[in-house]
Amino acid sequence: MASKAWCGSAILLALLFTIVKPSYGGITSKYVRKAQPSIDMPLKDYPPPKGYNAPEQVHITQGDHTGRAIIISWITPVEPTPDTVTYWPAKEPCEKKVAKASTITYKYYTYTSGYIHHATIKELEYDTKYFYEIACDESVRQFHFSTPPAPGPDVPYTFGIIGDLGQTYASKETLSHYISNKNAQAMLFLGDLSYADDYPNHDNVRWDTWGRLVERSVAYQPWIWTPGNHEIDFDQDIGEIEPFKPYNHRCPTPYKASGSTSPLWYSVKRASAYIIVLSSYSAYGKYTPQYQWLEKEFPKVNRSETPWLIILVHSPWYNSNGYHYMEGETMRVQFEKWVVQNKVDLVFAGHVHSYERSFRISNIKYNITNGLSFPVNDSSAPMYFTLGDGGNIEGLAAEFSAPQPEYSAFREASFGHAILDIKNRTHAHFTWHRNQDDKPVAADSTWVFNRYWFAQDETNCKLPA
Ligand SMILES: [Fe+2]
Repeated sequence: MASKAWCGSAILLALLFTIVKPSYGGITSKYVRKAQPSIDMPLKDYPPPKGYNAPEQVHITQGDHTGRAIIISWITPVEPTPDTVTYWPAKEPCEKKVAKASTITYKYYTYTSGYIHHATIKELEYDTKYFYEIACDESVRQFHFSTPPAPGPDVPYTFGIIGDLGQTYASKETLSHYISNKNAQAMLFLGDLSYADDYPNHDNVRWDTWGRLVERSVAYQPWIWTPGNHEIDFDQDIGEIEPFKPYNHRCPTPYKASGSTSPLWYSVKRASAYIIVLSSYSAYGKYTPQYQWLEKEFPKVNRSETPWLIILVHSPWYNSNGYHYMEGETMRVQFEKWVVQNKVDLVFAGHVHSYERSFRISNIKYNITNGLSFPVNDSSAPMYFTLGDGGNIEGLAAEFSAPQPEYSAFREASFGHAILDIKNRTHAHFTWHRNQDDKPVAADSTWVFNRYWFAQDETNCKLPA
């Protein structure tokens, strides 16, 4: 009788194991954020700077391929001047120089932009602090930035990473938490900036309010821009058929310096990192300009100069959330083979409003008919991160698939930001900071070992955080 019962239990257990496949280590965080409405801050919370025609929405981005140039942008709401910026090295205040901007405006439905100025300053010294000043009769606005060290294999450098920021109370919290970290030197921004297109007729006033919101960071350190779907602003019903019109007018990129033919995809070197920005919403099939550019781009990367190869893209290639599920799949199919062949270290994406980190996996053997449709461990593959958790008006994406896929190392539906701290050619440390009420809390972290110089498995790493 007892042996019959044992036999029955054993069969039941075996049956259970065939139905429920155990996961090998992925974590779905149990943290549940206090429910807060994702609402944009009212217009009155974004006052323009004081003074008639005061320059506003000041922002900077890298202006060349190597880090010796910067593009300074600002908007004057009423008059086309000031269209010049004065700048000088912090250590040599008498060495003032003036750069003239190119000035543009654009119309979007019934909205007319202010005067948008972009000044490219070249031949700066590496690793140097500069002040810059934009002045008109009633307002003098002064900011500063630091150029990166010259590209080199063991140059430490710290990047911030934010995606899908928007302009809600949570967005402001994310930004404040990021700014409170004094180590971060430049931002890798993963797309979806203002969410103005969630307003009737894509109310472009919300592009202006966003510019005012982020100025406190982006006027002082370059944000490397990636385009997202909320930058497309295509709306045939109101006659707006030029994709990326507000974004392209407001957020210039140094795309020509990397041989790109579009501001939407390009690359920059910064310290020990080589950063490739891709556009999820531009053609990337074989023979397209983006495909051809990327094919030529990988052979240009010299890992002895810039060991860290990083890709920024808006729509994730690996993500286990129901929100935007598989939207990045066609680009993954198109480019993953190159990414693995070239030992890309990290791929950062946004779009899905939660956080997720993958193990190093690839799925390049899949050809639709061979049945090899599951990702496998691959030590030449990058880690994939989804960081669409800046805190925008559309709220959190909390519906993760169950069970957690084996490729998923950690996932959590909270807002937050991340820091990538490159130590040398072999080691970097990544930390994701959730917005836990009013505090940034380091909720996930990992050492990252460089794929070219130190291709060890991080999952067994016992190094202290
Ligand atoms: Fe998006």
